[in-house]
Amino acid sequence: MTELVVRRLLVDMQAPIPRHWCGGEAFPTAFFNALSMSFPVGEQFFIDSVRNGFKGLPPDQQERCRAEVQGFIGQEATHRRVHGLYNEHLEKQGLVNEWGPRADRRLKLLEGQDPRHALAITAANEHFTAIMANWLLHNPGQLASEDSRLATLWLWHSSEESEHKSTAFDLYQALNGNDEWRIKWFRRVTAYFLADTLRQTMNNLRHDGALWKWRTWKGLASFLFGKRGLIRMTYKPWREYLRRDFHPSQQDASEGRRWLAEHGDRYTAVGAPA
Ligand SMILES: [Fe+2]
Ligand SMILES: [Fe+2]
Repeated sequence: MTELVVRRLLVDMQAPIPRHWCGGEAFPTAFFNALSMSFPVGEQFFIDSVRNGFKGLPPDQQERCRAEVQGFIGQEATHRRVHGLYNEHLEKQGLVNEWGPRADRRLKLLEGQDPRHALAITAANEHFTAIMANWLLHNPGQLASEDSRLATLWLWHSSEESEHKSTAFDLYQALNGNDEWRIKWFRRVTAYFLADTLRQTMNNLRHDGALWKWRTWKGLASFLFGKRGLIRMTYKPWREYLRRDFHPSQQDASEGRRWLAEHGDRYTAVGAPA
């Protein structure tokens, strides 16, 4: 059982955000903006999957993980809301979210299926978010910004992703979900996640007028493949999920705990929804 606190972020998302808020660079800005666009639909799906999985547990097991499930739902619901405000600014900048509606259509195909499929997809996505979150928490300089609101938002979100990374996985196991399907879905989710991230990032760069600039591609190379680049640093933890004895708690979550302990002035703790 992980104790999950729901936190309200003390960041005012009313004022517009700079066009290249991330280090003044087009590529990382477009990349993070793409991820943000996926969250309202994606995180609603995670909430629904976990809620449905929870309903399938016998009453004694429900009692044991009720608080954690409520905490998970509260955290993801807060992320959705804050990223919704962030995404409104992106829309005003002329960016077009195609990822959200596409994911929504795809996820609807799962309606009426065994709830363990949705949970396996959620657990796979949660692994993705947890390893990216850990990378970000270890490399906060990637979020260098003239507007500190966004660095705070991403590091708060990352810390909570790191904190609740086991919830969907544990529920899947509690419902006797097997490793074969867990790994099968992880491979599929990886393919979709990479393709969707790439498509939406390119789409954002195109609308930003930065797609065919040399500086954009130089930024891409160092952001993804540089010494502390995202792909270089996350490949190993990504692969761990393929092991039959994998559990999310085997991966380090100390940086998220440290960030939350040191930045208590950026949020207030609130109760989880009933
Ligand atoms: Fe989240
Ligand atoms: Fe999450």
